[in-house]
Amino acid sequence: MRILVSTASRHGSTTGVAVRIAGRLRAGLPDDVVVDELSAAEVADLVPYDAVVLGSAVYLGRWLDDARTLAERLAVQPSRPVWLFSVGPIGDPPKPVEEPAEVGDIVRATHARGHRLFAGRLDRHELGFAEKAVVMALRVADGDFRDSDAIDAWGTQIATELSRAESEPA
Ligand SMILES: Cc1cc2nc3c(=O)[nH]c(=O)nc-3n(C[C@H](O)[C@H](O)[C@H](O)COP(=O)(O)O)c2cc1C
Repeated sequence: MRILVSTASRHGSTTGVAVRIAGRLRAGLPDDVVVDELSAAEVADLVPYDAVVLGSAVYLGRWLDDARTLAERLAVQPSRPVWLFSVGPIGDPPKPVEEPAEVGDIVRATHARGHRLFAGRLDRHELGFAEKAVVMALRVADGDFRDSDAIDAWGTQIATELSRAESEPA
């Protein structure tokens, strides 16, 4: 079995979430299962993959283009289980609590088994001028609000579902 964990990220925090998920998949599945971690822009061929976990950072209520493009490619090749996640909400408690509006459509198009919204990380020093202006207008505080336990639990849940599917008779 070969699994793709792929993300679109501007400042690395979504990639960090993907690294944790990939770690839980490796820990929860047999040694011969291969887990590839690639940015959404790097994915040349989906054919080798038996399952895909795709995530995107959320900016101004939307997924990043590279993640949307990969989701469109998954939608036209719906032959494998897909899980989706978004990384965005900032603060304690993290806000906004709503899923990005387009996620429902992406879930339906890819026949995703699930979607999770995870809190993100904000560091003004990493932002460009326009991004800083948005963050100032929204009055959000810097910090790393990612919930490692929630991310690990979801990765373990996906591993459990995949190992069940592997052990079912064909
Ligand atoms: C300009 C800007 C706009 C953002 N807009 C949203 C948003 O609409 N919804 C949200 O949940 N998070 C939003 N965020 C928070 C980011 O999604 C969060 O910082 C995330 O962890 C960034 O992921 P990355 O490091 O992978 O790029 C925004 C952040 C910035 C800098």
